[in-house]
Amino acid sequence: METRVLQIDPLEDVRYIYQQAANLLAEGELVALPTETVYGLGADAFNAEAVARIFEVKERPSFDPLICHISRARDIYEIAEVPEALQDIVTELTMKFWPGAMTLVLPKKDCVPDVVTSGLPTVACRVSSNDVMRRVLRLLGSPIAAPSANIFGHISPTCAAAVVTELGGRIPLIVDGGACAEGLESTILEPCIDEKGNPAVRMLREGPVTREMLRPICRVIRPKKVSGRQKALLAAATDELKEAGEEPAPVAPGQLLCHYAPSKPLVLCAPRDKFELTEGLRYGLISYQGESKLAMQGCWDEMLVLSPGNGRMTEAAIRLFAMMRTMDENEEIDVIVVEELTEGGIGCAMMDRLRRASAGRAPKA
Ligand code: TXA
Ligand code: MG
Repeated sequence: METRVLQIDPLEDVRYIYQQAANLLAEGELVALPTETVYGLGADAFNAEAVARIFEVKERPSFDPLICHISRARDIYEIAEVPEALQDIVTELTMKFWPGAMTLVLPKKDCVPDVVTSGLPTVACRVSSNDVMRRVLRLLGSPIAAPSANIFGHISPTCAAAVVTELGGRIPLIVDGGACAEGLESTILEPCIDEKGNPAVRMLREGPVTREMLRPICRVIRPKKVSGRQKALLAAATDELKEAGEEPAPVAPGQLLCHYAPSKPLVLCAPRDKFELTEGLRYGLISYQGESKLAMQGCWDEMLVLSPGNGRMTEAAIRLFAMMRTMDENEEIDVIVVEELTEGGIGCAMMDRLRRASAGRAPKA
């Protein structure tokens, strides 16, 4: 299949691009669309067959549910039931963080096909702040189910070129809306009632809406524990699972140990530590500011700096996935070393992704 890439040029009349995207979606095709977090691979959420193709194209296991994008907060009531006890907290969260990088998991309505939620009784809902996504949503008139536009387990794409690398030849259209403004996947929250009877949120995935931002509104609690067996099943993931004929029960997201992984080994190292090199391997470093003891070690075949100068974590977050990709594609590098980041604010989400990316394979000479 030929994949067209259509670029949104703010100086041109690009309405025909939005219309083409909406038409393709209405015909049951898949279209990659920008959001402020990462690019999404969209399908009409009410078309079960189209949604099933998302799993095929991404090679995603059927037990991993998708996020439903809606164009405005009040559309949440079209796809989800908001229990009375959670009304206030849901309103407060959506007023504060939508449109934006927050996904809410709520009991689903029957109109949402089971394939979207992998059979779960809940649906993940999000209003993106990206203008392209919202215009296409309005033209289509249904929610768009869209996971990140990458092959399952790979690094999420933060620009159209990365989507081409991941899904080129598999989908008819990629709408190029430029680089993503946030660069990390949305924070996933499940509103709930805590043991004291107060509204709270379970943080199912860390992201741009941080614990610090949520704390003034409500308590943030950890997701329920996944059993050891389930973790083992999830880590073995897709193919082996399919071969064994096992379909584990769907669980909360972000619990696949090895996720967001480059194809090369990725190692984390503290900025003040000395990195122990293995003879015969070539190393690329991704450093926060490029000024740490680690960065100064002088053994790096390549070094990329997330936020040169004063160092801003938000800038680092926007660039992290793109730099992991650049290192992964650099043929002169065997191992990617990433400097550990401070775990406050968005740093928590970044370290979460990096730990998962480093849980892949050990470097071999
Ligand atoms: O920023 C984002 O969230 C991007 C953009 C495209 O919106 N999307 C994204 O989708 O990261 P994806 O599929 O890569 O990750 C969504 C996560 C999955 O790990 C899935 O397990 C979880 O959301 N999820 C979806 N529905 C859920 C549900 N009903 N309960 C718990 N987790 C759910
Ligand atoms: Mg993803």
